[in-house]
Amino acid sequence: MPVTQLREIAPASRLENVRYAIRDLSCVADEVARQGHKILPLNIGDPLNFDFQTPAHMIEAVYQAMRDGKNGYSSSSGIPQALNAIRGEAARKGITNIQDVFVTSGVSETVDICLTALLNPGDNLLTPCPDYPLYSAVLAKIEIGLNTYYLNEEDGWQPDLDDIKKKITPRTRGIVLINPNNPTGSVCTREMLEQIAELARRHNLIIFADEIYDKLIIDETPHVAMAAVAPDVPVITFGGLSKNYLAPGWRIGWGIASGEAAVIKPYLEGVNKLLRARLCANHPEQYAIKPALEGPQDHLIEVKRKLRSRRDLTMKWCAETSRVSCVAPRGAFYAYPRIDIPEGDDVFVTELIRQKYVTVVHGSGFGQRPGTKHFRIVFLPDEKTLSAAYAAIADFMRERYA
Ligand SMILES: Cc1ncc(COP(=O)(O)O)c(C=O)c1O
Repeated sequence: MPVTQLREIAPASRLENVRYAIRDLSCVADEVARQGHKILPLNIGDPLNFDFQTPAHMIEAVYQAMRDGKNGYSSSSGIPQALNAIRGEAARKGITNIQDVFVTSGVSETVDICLTALLNPGDNLLTPCPDYPLYSAVLAKIEIGLNTYYLNEEDGWQPDLDDIKKKITPRTRGIVLINPNNPTGSVCTREMLEQIAELARRHNLIIFADEIYDKLIIDETPHVAMAAVAPDVPVITFGGLSKNYLAPGWRIGWGIASGEAAVIKPYLEGVNKLLRARLCANHPEQYAIKPALEGPQDHLIEVKRKLRSRRDLTMKWCAETSRVSCVAPRGAFYAYPRIDIPEGDDVFVTELIRQKYVTVVHGSGFGQRPGTKHFRIVFLPDEKTLSAAYAAIADFMRERYA
């Protein structure tokens, strides 16, 4: 008689706190799509969903690598020519005192490895609020409680330095800085970076500088790398091909470790242990790193022209629409408008999908100050699509909150 397994297989209880609002909303969107409606997706930051294309010379490099038989495992840190190109890029960013460089399957894996290699039970890591939800998801997975610091909406979403100071405890091991920021599109000032570096020095913290959008500065103000203003402080700078180089599906990211060797080396041994344990990043795609970083950068001119026009359209809509206000984004492709509505922003976005077929992400999925409500817009679609989406959101708000 065959044995049938009857008890359900339960997921680990620590996963109860793993949330990823951006993709969690897809279930509602899928339900609406099944009913035959065309969804306007302003929720996922994938330029390839819209009128952006991966530069052809990068595609050629990967194709050539596959044809050349680079289809086995690579070394765990990454292929030498990519690592050299990343070091060159770090130098152009003004980063000195480099102690290590490694390639991962997207910045997502850099984050996973770097956080896992650092934190013991009872430790904490300062993460921004609002934040890109991957950080809190990884922290939940490794059973580390959240210790968030606010970004200040009144100050163009710069980190709230007083709040950071208040939140540092004897068990705080590091701080995450997302610059340019997802979900707000803000870009940190040099003074802010210097002040955060000073706190890191005083409290023996490592800084995780997520600079995955550093070439997508919409206005002409240059991006300043955290590690460049603090060569003595342990910093891991995160970068990759997903955003600046329009290849998110290739899953290529990297970490650049800088700071005093004696201070950061023991931690880097832990990072390398985890890099070895997962074998390697995608191999053929690593052959696109050198051509991306050292080859023509023409695509960036066109990308930034489109982003500027779409950001301006978004800001015009925010200014004209009642109950909506927004700090103008200066980098990346996100806007984070504040909304004055009598219900939760999670209800707002769910009903917006159901009634107008537009998907945005609720502020409560990223975190926000109590009493405030927001939603995140991905302004990657072309002007016509964006205008249609904004008209639909305005109609929805008029009908629902008039
Ligand atoms: C701030 C930030 N960091 C990391 C990632 C993940 O990037 P990757 O595609 O390299 O895993 C994203 C993706 O949206 C992001 O916005």
